[in-house]
Amino acid sequence: MTERFDVIIVGGGVIGSSIAFQLSKRNYKVLIVEKDKLAGRASSAAAGMLGAQSELENNSPLFEVARQSRAMFPALADELKELTGIDIELMQNGILKVAMTNEECTHIKSISAFQQAVGEKAEWLSSEQVKEKEPSISDSVLGGMFMPNDGQVSAPKLSIAFAQAATVLGAQIFEYTEVCNFLIEKGHVIGVETVNGKLYADETIVAGGAWSTQIMKHTGMKLDVYPVKGECFSVRFKGRLLKSSIFSSMGYIVPKAGGRLIIGATQKPYTFDEAVHLGSVSHLVNNAKKIISSLKDAEWDKVWAGIRPQTEDGMPYLDKHPHVNGLSIATGHYRNGILLSAYTGLHMADLLEGKEVNTNFCLDRKTIKGVHA
Ligand code: FAD
Ligand code: GLY
Repeated sequence: MTERFDVIIVGGGVIGSSIAFQLSKRNYKVLIVEKDKLAGRASSAAAGMLGAQSELENNSPLFEVARQSRAMFPALADELKELTGIDIELMQNGILKVAMTNEECTHIKSISAFQQAVGEKAEWLSSEQVKEKEPSISDSVLGGMFMPNDGQVSAPKLSIAFAQAATVLGAQIFEYTEVCNFLIEKGHVIGVETVNGKLYADETIVAGGAWSTQIMKHTGMKLDVYPVKGECFSVRFKGRLLKSSIFSSMGYIVPKAGGRLIIGATQKPYTFDEAVHLGSVSHLVNNAKKIISSLKDAEWDKVWAGIRPQTEDGMPYLDKHPHVNGLSIATGHYRNGILLSAYTGLHMADLLEGKEVNTNFCLDRKTIKGVHA
């Protein structure tokens, strides 16, 4: 007899895997169906910053949820370690957002005032104080805002740990299995058609990252999720160059375990091409050296690119399909899918169980172009 699942999740990135983990904890029989290998796309490309305050500066529903999600990481790190033995390398070492111009000083000071007013730690530091905190920072940095509660994880390790924890709790994973269509009966999705045959479930969740628009087209939905390519590189430095991550309008530098630093990233919309261009790398290198000149002595490690899933209004979609039963979507996390993964898993599990969820991420908000079954 054909095996039937409670929930099929299309896409084995950090979002699909986090949802699989939460549903497996609630005893659902879950299957992740992934076109390539697990966490092979954006989720492994990410620098891993938990930048609730550095990426999302002001009052918005996403800022609120980002802070909630960030707060979940200490317990999540312990839980994933316990279940899988994987250390997601959570570092609560803060992010320093630096200003390179007077305009940026004014802007960042105003963000710092707002964030303090809502109860966050976001201290403005003069250029001297910045240098005291991070002596390797160059004189061209005019000041900065230090956010001690922003941190980081290893993005690939987090993604794999979610998936592995789900399997420990009973989930199955089919890699190298592309979903080509949905199986729809009387307006209800009853499973998916894959390159390897049909798979059946009561509920299907699309977590296909930047590819979600293509997948949802099979239901007639014109989703406005589009790709934004990001190129990144890493270097190795003997000794400890930085204590915290450095975030600026010109890019970021994220210190990882063992003296490795991730430096990123470009923003190239409307392309699925994951090739890395020399011009982009040289631009990133030059910008990083303006912030920390001693990076010129670092050893080259590697270069890569990933495709971020962005939406027209910058907010993810975490909702049920409005016209087709048994189908939901979780995508559009853009620059913050690692940070928002903890929240997203819980939101989607609650949504499937009919619990009350935050409605700011629904599909029928004003930007959706057209929804018809
Ligand atoms: P993906 O990881 O892209 O996963 C989607 C999966 O769906 C893929 O594995 C794909 O193969 C699969 N799929 C697609 N179509 C099908 C199909 N038809 N059938 C089956 N499977 C399919 N976020 C942060 O929070 N902090 C950061 O510091 C950070 N840095 C970043 C740096 C870079 C350079 C980039 C590119 C992104 C960064 N991000 C960061 C953003 C983050 O990586 C993404 O928001 C997040 O990974 C999105 O996860 P996802 O699971 O939705 O997408
Ligand atoms: N959050 C960092 C990036 O998307 O490049």
